[in-house]
Formats: sequence, structure tokens, C-alpha cells
Amino acid sequence: MNFIDIILKKKNKEELTESEIFYVIDQIGKAPDYQFASLLMAICLNGMNKTETALLTEAMLMSGDIIDLSEIEGIKVDKHSTGGVADTTTLVLAPLTASCGLPVVKMSGRGLGHTGGTLDKLESIPGFNVSLTQAQAVKQVKDIGVVVMGQTGKLCPADGYLYKLRDVTGTVQSIPLIASSIMSKKIAVGTDAIVLDVKCGSGAFMKNVDDALELAEEMVDIGGLINKKVTAFITNMDQPLGNNVGNTLEVIEAIEILKGNEKGDLYEVSLGLGSQMLVSGGIASTNDEAYDMLEKNISNGKGLEKLEEMIKAQGGDPDVLNDYSLFKQPKFTKEIYLQGGYVSGFDTEAVGRASAELGAGRTSYDMPIDYSAGIVLNARIGDKYDPSVPFAVMYSDSEDKINSAEKIFKDSVRLSDTPVEKPKVILGMVAR
Ligand code: URA
Repeated sequence: MNFIDIILKKKNKEELTESEIFYVIDQIGKAPDYQFASLLMAICLNGMNKTETALLTEAMLMSGDIIDLSEIEGIKVDKHSTGGVADTTTLVLAPLTASCGLPVVKMSGRGLGHTGGTLDKLESIPGFNVSLTQAQAVKQVKDIGVVVMGQTGKLCPADGYLYKLRDVTGTVQSIPLIASSIMSKKIAVGTDAIVLDVKCGSGAFMKNVDDALELAEEMVDIGGLINKKVTAFITNMDQPLGNNVGNTLEVIEAIEILKGNEKGDLYEVSLGLGSQMLVSGGIASTNDEAYDMLEKNISNGKGLEKLEEMIKAQGGDPDVLNDYSLFKQPKFTKEIYLQGGYVSGFDTEAVGRASAELGAGRTSYDMPIDYSAGIVLNARIGDKYDPSVPFAVMYSDSEDKINSAEKIFKDSVRLSDTPVEKPKVILGMVAR
């Protein structure tokens, strides 16, 4: 078999066979990056059908280990977002659903480009360790019911390689590549059911509902092929999900939600996904019943207690829950004022880039993060903005970075003279 023939086949919009797809994955570490990059671009432009996507998922899954969670009792449920801005749902729903009795094993990723990553957020908690072995993770779930950690090196190494390459070759935005990347990792984690959050809008990889729906259906179908219950929600990413963008800031917002001090879009999406996790895990029989359980465990403090247990178990300082000054503090703060009007939209990807520019994200793989950096928004789509108060506040260790991020951020906000409706946050759901 020959790599060039396979590239030419995809360039000519032909279907790849099982042996060709497995050959390509086997060539990782043997064939040069440029051949993979060329094939990835051909897939991006010409697509893959459902069979090819399922085979690519299987080939990537087989490139590494599959975690054995059989020691943990109960139905294990995982959740995954396709990536967005101020998307802090994991930090709310992992401890909250665990506090209702669901065993939660969550392998998360780092932020890259304009999207944030749960591991970076957790590492903003002093001492928090995301690098656990499989045995440590299983023990923690048996002890306290929840773990949120990084992927072990042996899990889907093929995805690790291809994702890094896609990120620097303009080939992230492809439904078969995203579906196979996410589903291979989710299947490798070995949970029984998966809840997916497919982001849709200006801050997501899928910019419109049709594409988001296609991606959701693709992933639900892959789940069906291997007998896993997969439910996919399509949620709005036309503005940052929470009001806080940036690692420490997002952790604080999740804590405030678990304390019962904040509601809003982040709350709605977290509890919507969390309800489905409880239903998929057999803890509740309907989404309404599950929603009530989650709300109850916010008001009685059990969700927050579970977060505290998780922070302690993973070496973090639990005192941050009551004293936010224990987080790293930024050196500079700037209030951002705009002209008044109704907030009509955001270029949310640019908001994510502004936050990364402040130091909250990476522009290259191993770049250190400024955990205190980020943006707090005081207005959302549909709000009437009063120009005498700051529209947003920026935090960073560098004044120069604040100045360059300010321009990106200001250009990202759209204001209108006429009233604007608040957008829906959960746009749809796909399940078979
Ligand atoms: N998240 C992933 O894990 N993979 C993708 O391709 C996109 C988002």
C-alpha cells in the first residue's frame, strides 16, 4: 500500500477502504508529517462518509489503550464539549452529578487557540494535580465518586498526533475529523454512556446549526455502532457561555454557581447536560426529575462539598472555595467602556483570542499560561448596556497585552440602537 495513492484517492473524492484507513493510522511515526497534512486537507475539503468516519474512529481507538472501569460500580457516564469560550460546564456538572450518586470519570483536555481547556482551569487551583494514573483515577472514583484528569499518554495516541497537526494546518474544522477525534477518545475512556455538548455559533468550530446537527448525528451514530448510549446537545456559542473568560475567573464562576449565587446561560447548559448524565446513568428517570435533583444539591451545598472533596483528593488547596485571594492575582486590571446600546452579538472566537492574548491561552503548544488573565463581561446579548459602567474588565500580568487584547475585544462586540431578543441557549438534542 502506498500513502501517496491514498492521498490521491481522497483528492479525487473516492471512498477509502478499511485497510487504507488502518494503514494511514499505522504510518504515524513512520511517514512524514507533510503526507498526513496533505491527507487531512483532502479529508477537510472532500469529506468522509459515515463508514469511513466510523473506521477512522476505530483505527484511532485501536492505536492505544482502552481504560477498564469495571471495578467501579454503577453506570459510568462521560461528557464532552466540542470546545467553546467560557465553557465551564465540567467544573459545575462533574461534582454536582457526582453528588447525586453518579460515578464520574472525566478526562479533559487543555485549551488551544481560542477555546479554553478544563485542565488549565483546574491547574489554576494551587496544587491541583491533573496527571493521575488509571489506578489512581479508579481509586478516587471508588472513594469519592468523581475524578477530572488529563488523558494518559497511552489513550488514543493517534488522535494526539493528528490533533496537533490539524491545529497548525488549518484542518480542525472538519466533521469526520472532529467526530472521530472525540469519539475515539470517549470510547477509550471506557464509560457506558456519553453526553456530548456540540457547540454552535461564532465561538465554536461549527458556525451554524446544520453543521452542528450533522456533527452531532455523526457522533451519536458512531456510539450506536458500538452499543454506547450517546446523547448530543446542540448549544449556543454565539457569545461566551459564562460571564468570566480565563482560567481562574472561570473556576470562580463555577464555584459561585455551586454556591447558588449565580444563574444564567452557564447554569442552564450545565444543568441541562448534567440532567441527561443522571438519566443516562440511571440515577433519574426523567430529565425534569434529574434537574430538580441537581438544583437541590446546589441549594443544600452538596455539589460544592463534592468539589471540595475532589480538590482535596487531587492535591489542591480547598481554601480557595472561600478565599479567592488564594488564586494567583493579576498585576494589571483595565475597565473597558463602549458606547451605549443593546448588545446584539459577539465575534466569540475573537473574545477567546483576546483572552488568550491577555495570557489565558496558548499560541504554541508548550507556552506557559497566566492563570489570572482573562475578561469579565458585564453585559450579554439582549441586555441594554449603560455606557457609564464598564462593559467588561480585563486582567493580565502585562499592560502591553491588555492594550492589544482591548482592540481585539472592542472589535468583537456588536451594539444596536433597537432592542434585541435574548438567544436560546439549548438549541436541540440528538439521540437514537
Ligand atoms: N475536540 C476534540 O477532542 N477533537 C476535535 O477535533 C475538536 C474538538
